[in-house]
Amino acid sequence: MKRNMFSKFAGSLLALALVFAASSAFAKVATVDIPVDSQMYAQAPQPLTPSQCAQCHSYQFGALKEKGGKHRFACQECHKAFHAYNPNKGNYAEIMPKCSQCHTDIHGPANKDCATCHTNPHTPRVVKVTERLTNSCATCHQEEKAELVQFPSKHSLLACSKCHHTRHGYKPSCQECHKPHYKGQEYSSCLGCHSVHKPKKVTYKSNEPAQTCGSCHTKVYGKWTKTVSKHSKVNCATCHHDKHGYIPKCEECHKAPHPAGILKHYPRCLDCHLDVHELPGMGGKK
Ligand code: HEC
Ligand code: HEC
Ligand code: HEC
Ligand code: HEC
Ligand code: HEC
Ligand code: HEC
Ligand code: HEC
Ligand code: HEC
Ligand code: HEC
Ligand code: HEC
Ligand code: HEC
Ligand code: HEC
Repeated sequence: MKRNMFSKFAGSLLALALVFAASSAFAKVATVDIPVDSQMYAQAPQPLTPSQCAQCHSYQFGALKEKGGKHRFACQECHKAFHAYNPNKGNYAEIMPKCSQCHTDIHGPANKDCATCHTNPHTPRVVKVTERLTNSCATCHQEEKAELVQFPSKHSLLACSKCHHTRHGYKPSCQECHKPHYKGQEYSSCLGCHSVHKPKKVTYKSNEPAQTCGSCHTKVYGKWTKTVSKHSKVNCATCHHDKHGYIPKCEECHKAPHPAGILKHYPRCLDCHLDVHELPGMGGKK
């Protein structure tokens, strides 16, 4: 029994000695265990990447990601200084990037106030339709303005934004305000004849359906669709080519139909042929 107690005591003493020896050899001063990684400190610091900035500035990152367009480069290209705002100095505006770091007055002297229209540099192409914008269309689009002035029409009396509403760059369909000339006429065809900023200057191709012309020129159309003469195979727009109101000369297609003597006495072809849309007396030759 005694011997047993002794050996237990000696055993504890030995353990204590071992612990003491160990602690003096590897002196541990913290209460926790964190391994050292000197590799982490081997490299010089790198500039933060956009996604690292985004760990705090997710809003700006998200805007650039979705609608940043050509501004999707490193934040620091623009933000030469950041985290430098000091309310005591009131230096916010001073440290913010300026468009002029990289751009000229690209829309001319009337539009130097970039941020009025480009309200968010992180979504540069998003320009809202404000009064500032609608009052200045012509400062950037002189050509369209000039057309509307040079070729007066009822469109010239409308504000640009009456047609170009909802967003900048929006192009309306004629359908928003007009009916077609005849039932079934495609709206995609309108621009083939009408240039929208000079709608009265009508031009067209020679294969334009006769039905279009017929929707207004009902009398001529009626004659032409019924005539048995060979002109019924010639499209309206083939004779009245290129621009609305053009009257062709017979000689454009009929070089020398009769001896010169006859034509000298009767210089007008229609003195004998009477009606170009309904040539009389020719049916029998078909
Ligand atoms: C093309 C230049 C440009 C780039 C690229 C750019 N910024 Fe900006 N940033 C600006 C300008 C200019 C302002 C000042 C806007 C103002 O005064 O309204 C600004 C403002 C800020 C602000 C202040 C708050 C705010 O939104 O107005 C933060 C934060 C910011 N940017 C973060 C970022 C981060 C993060 C990135 C990259 C992920 C970034 N920016 C990329 C030009 C840029
Ligand atoms: C750890 C979080 C954190 C990171 C990472 C961070 N920012 Fe910021 N940043 C802030 C805080 C906080 C503010 C001050 C409050 C605010 O405006 O949101 C601030 C403010 C700003 C501002 C406006 C005020 C000023 O002093 O410039 C800009 C610009 C900015 N940060 C750009 C950046 C850019 C660029 C990066 C990456 C290169 C970046 N930040 C990374 C937390 C961060
Ligand atoms: C650090 C230089 C830098 C700064 C500062 C800067 N930009 Fe840009 N911006 C660029 C570059 C580069 C492009 C692309 C040009 C190109 O490809 O032709 C660009 C393109 C743009 C575009 C066209 C975007 C697209 O996706 O097509 C707009 C709009 C624009 N910038 C407006 C601004 C405005 C407004 C400011 C001031 C708030 C500004 N930028 C500040 C460098 C900058
Ligand atoms: C009156 C409003 C307005 C002002 C002021 C303005 N912009 Fe713009 N800017 C626009 C509009 C609208 C667009 C066309 C955007 C689109 O729909 O793509 C544009 C386009 C741009 C583009 C792209 C051009 C292209 O052809 O792709 C750049 C770059 C640009 N602006 C820079 C600037 C700079 C720099 C300033 C200041 C010097 C400025 N803008 C002032 C309205 C404005
Ligand atoms: C500060 C200059 C500026 C102002 C002001 C401006 N625009 Fe533009 N606009 C542009 C630029 C630059 C583009 C070309 C963008 C592109 O290449 O996509 C454009 C494109 C357009 C387009 C599309 C062109 C196409 O071929 O798809 C229309 C339509 C347009 N603008 C109408 C307007 C109208 C209407 C206004 C007035 C409410 C206006 N713009 C004001 C600069 C401007
Ligand atoms: C009656 C409606 C209407 C009015 C008013 C109008 N536009 Fe347009 N605009 C259009 C339509 C429709 C188009 C598309 C034409 C196309 O696709 O060929 C267009 C196209 C444009 C374009 C793109 C380039 C082009 O010619 O296709 C610009 C820029 C433009 N308009 C600017 C203006 C400006 C600036 C004004 C005012 C001075 C204006 N528009 C007035 C209907 C209108
Ligand atoms: C936002 C409405 C709107 C849009 C879009 C529009 N127009 Fe018009 N247009 C008008 C108005 C208003 C008039 C005058 C009507 C009147 O006084 O009876 C007009 C008149 C015309 C006229 C007669 C012009 C004159 O001086 O007699 C033609 C031709 C015309 N539009 C063609 C077109 C074509 C083609 C398109 C599509 C490319 C188009 N319009 C788009 C509103 C519009
Ligand atoms: C083949 C060519 C052609 C096509 C395609 C065409 N138009 Fe016309 N449009 C004309 C001619 C020609 C006029 C009469 C011009 C004049 O009075 O001098 C006209 C006149 C108009 C007018 C003025 C009002 C009227 O009825 O006299 C409007 C509005 C019009 N067109 C809208 C449209 C629309 C919308 C479309 C498409 C669905 C369209 N046009 C397609 C040739 C065409
Ligand atoms: C929207 C109605 C409309 C349409 C569509 C239309 N016109 Fe006309 N056209 C007129 C009006 C109105 C006039 C008379 C006013 C004028 O001289 O401009 C006219 C005049 C003419 C004239 C000149 C008459 C003269 O005495 O000088 C010819 C030729 C003509 N149109 C052919 C055509 C042809 C060909 C088409 C089809 C490609 C066509 N028109 C489509 C309304 C229309
Ligand atoms: C073979 C050629 C030719 C064809 C096809 C033709 N025209 Fe004509 N048109 C003429 C000539 C030539 C005149 C001039 C007649 C004159 O001087 O009396 C004319 C005159 C007109 C006029 C003005 C005088 C009037 O009679 O009202 C209109 C409108 C017209 N054409 C519309 C049309 C339409 C619409 C069509 C198709 C349905 C058409 N034309 C087919 C050659 C043609
Ligand atoms: C765009 C061309 C064109 C114009 C302009 C034109 N014609 Fe024709 N004409 C034709 C064609 C095509 C025929 C059929 C020829 C054939 O099949 O041999 C024709 C046939 C005729 C015929 C024979 C008719 C028949 O049914 O056999 C006469 C007569 C005629 N034209 C007279 C005229 C007169 C008069 C004019 C001017 C007022 C005129 N043409 C203008 C293209 C034209
Ligand atoms: C003095 C009257 C007269 C005049 C003027 C006249 N023609 Fe004719 N034309 C005729 C007669 C008659 C015919 C034969 C009809 C027949 O054969 O059935 C004819 C036939 C034609 C034919 C059909 C020829 C064929 O081989 O089928 C054409 C095309 C024609 N004329 C075009 C013209 C043109 C173009 C002019 C003006 C430069 C013109 N004519 C002037 C009387 C005339």
